[in-house]
Amino acid sequence: MNKVDVVVIGAGAAGLFCAAQAGKRGRSVAVLDHAKRIGGKILMSGGGRCNFTNMYASHENFLCDNKHFCKSALSQYTQWDFISLVAEYDIAYHEKTLGQLFCDDSAKDILNMLMSECDKAGATVTNQCDVLQIDKTDAGFTLQTSKGEYQCESLVIATGGLSMPKLGASPFGYKVAEQFGLTVKPTRAGLVPFTLHEQDKKVLAELSGISLDASASCNSTSFNENILFTHRGLSGPAVLQISSFWEPGEAVEFDLYPNGDLYEQLHKAQQSQPDVLLSNALAAFYPKRYVQTVLPYIGIENKPLKQYQGKSLIEVAQAFHQWQLKPNGTEGYRTAEVTLGGVDTDFLSSKTMEAKNVKGLYFIGEVMDVTGWLGGYNFQWAWSSGFVAGQVV
Ligand code: FDA
Repeated sequence: MNKVDVVVIGAGAAGLFCAAQAGKRGRSVAVLDHAKRIGGKILMSGGGRCNFTNMYASHENFLCDNKHFCKSALSQYTQWDFISLVAEYDIAYHEKTLGQLFCDDSAKDILNMLMSECDKAGATVTNQCDVLQIDKTDAGFTLQTSKGEYQCESLVIATGGLSMPKLGASPFGYKVAEQFGLTVKPTRAGLVPFTLHEQDKKVLAELSGISLDASASCNSTSFNENILFTHRGLSGPAVLQISSFWEPGEAVEFDLYPNGDLYEQLHKAQQSQPDVLLSNALAAFYPKRYVQTVLPYIGIENKPLKQYQGKSLIEVAQAFHQWQLKPNGTEGYRTAEVTLGGVDTDFLSSKTMEAKNVKGLYFIGEVMDVTGWLGGYNFQWAWSSGFVAGQVV
């Protein structure tokens, strides 16, 4: 039998960070994970370079049914606190774009740092450990696991969401929440590529590999980054971002000339080169292959510019400024970076992440109904929520 002050289930970003914080306070901590390899998701993150935080992180970059829930944790442990820790470990990093900080070398640097923090704090990390049963006792919790029984005062659930099952994702955390009477908000894949209806896919798959600057909008939210046509559908940062706001059946609107007025440009070209074909004029702004494929697809005839009279040039520009696409669905948890929904934050203290109805039970990281935008925000949530729980467990 293993008796410790704190058991953390899940050795991902949030669990490891929380364990190190609690260990530093002199608490004995055991982290248990069922995966074969610790930190698989961290190693894969940011294309292997881990976008570990965002310089502009604030509560406004998160989706959560309670808009104010994230404020306390994000202010108790900020992106600048984590950046200082990264600097302490001499990990080289850079800003890629929009405040997104990536390791110069490898995501391994962040995982090694977390393991070293746990080690220094005396927190043990055990992999390939299945938790079979959890019971509440007067003193805390008893856990039956594939590696023996554990007793603890505080139990932290850091088992993440459902994205990427091959990296160890499971609904375990939601089941624990339900066992103890907490509500779980419906879950769905977020930060995920769109799949297309057959008639769109047939045409757009030919554009595979083409990336365009675009603003993607739905449900009063817009992201201005870029989109990428793939052989399966549509991806790229603007698509991943908007996927978290999209509901099945809805259309997404893309502005494919997001930083200017395409009509103005075409009108100028019409004045200076009236005999030039529309496709050639558009090729100044888009890859040729894209223009040739897309004009017949959106039903625009390819004629010399002088033949677009009246409102017709405005209509051409509008077709690019307001391209409406109804996705068929998303690629789902197989490729999603995050899971929307999760443990209802109404049941948790925003200051400590403790369940309001069960003393000593905590939920941190992605298992909760808190989902960040693309760009380092999800890791920042793992650090901030793990930190605040780590101060009190
Ligand atoms: P996380 O998923 O990291 O950890 C959960 C742990 O619990 C896992 O180790 C799992 O094995 C374990 N577990 C699950 N069920 C269990 C059970 N039944 N028993 C025991 N253990 C169990 N975010 C970001 O900010 N920047 C980025 O660059 C990226 N990049 C990125 C790439 C890819 C491919 C993905 C899939 C995701 C990202 N993300 C990201 C998102 C980010 O990785 C994610 O939000 C955090 O890892 C969440 O941290 P958690 O610790 O909450 O869960």
